[in-house]
Amino acid sequence: MKTNIPRIIAVSSGKGGVGKTNFVTNIALIFRGMQKRVLLMDADIGLSNIDIMFGVAPKYNIKHLLTGERNIKDIIFKSEQGIDIIPASSGIRELTQLTFEQKIKIIQELESLDENYDIFLIDTGAGISDNVTFFCSAAHDNIIIVTSEPTSIADAYALIKVLYKEYGEKNFRIVINNIKNPKEARETFRKISLVTERFLGLSLDYLGFLPYDEKIKDAIVSQKPYVNLFPTSDFSKKLSDIAKEILKRDVNLFKGGMQFFLKKALTTG
Ligand SMILES: Nc1ncnc2c1ncn2[C@@H]1O[C@H](COP(=O)(O)OP(=O)(O)O)[C@@H](O)[C@H]1O
Ligand SMILES: [Mg+2]
Repeated sequence: MKTNIPRIIAVSSGKGGVGKTNFVTNIALIFRGMQKRVLLMDADIGLSNIDIMFGVAPKYNIKHLLTGERNIKDIIFKSEQGIDIIPASSGIRELTQLTFEQKIKIIQELESLDENYDIFLIDTGAGISDNVTFFCSAAHDNIIIVTSEPTSIADAYALIKVLYKEYGEKNFRIVINNIKNPKEARETFRKISLVTERFLGLSLDYLGFLPYDEKIKDAIVSQKPYVNLFPTSDFSKKLSDIAKEILKRDVNLFKGGMQFFLKKALTTG
């Protein structure tokens, strides 16, 4: 029987290729190491990646759920590390823009799960597409991954602006990735928070930064999760600090979340 409400954490970015999937995969394992029960959804629905990061080939994915061939229980893949994964499907153009009915179906299926998850992590994909804003506005925590590249900062700002102006989201937690030194991280955070404060009146929540690490590519090539291969590296330590920071932030689980979102979606159409 389901007794608790999971904390829903959406991870997004303006620009692609900034490290979302790597972040989500590895922080899922860190939460698991903290004895949390984790559900991880690959919501980059047209371009799945999480299965590759775990080196697994799930038989079913979100496509089978949406066509009605399978239900949510059937498509959840249980990884050997103890993470439950909802896989995306690759190369299916129709799913890059979910219809209203498809969104409702996803929410209802998620609601029907009777497992007790503590954390529900969503890798939303990049950009300001409708799928991304849908998952972001259903979450309790919105984490935005940014790098020091000006394009990444500009695109992250564009995403924050849309989520604030069109969906009323006000809380954004920032992680700066691919950092060569702490000064670069501070400056990047300062640049993005300056524009959100000035043009939107929003202060951003800084969760921390993650160093650039060559070994991340090796881990991806070997299709084994990085934090399992290099648990004591600087990257793994910083990621673990970020996981702790997230848990320190209070969220009202009754406000927002899938159930609330379903009601909102059904009433506004
Ligand atoms: N901190 C990092 N140091 C070095 N390489 C990284 C780091 N974070 C991500 N990468 C690399 O960047 C690329 C894009 O990462 P990925 O997680 O797939 O991005 P996204 O999901 O945002 O598109 C991958 O090849 C990954 O190995
Ligand atoms: Mg990705």
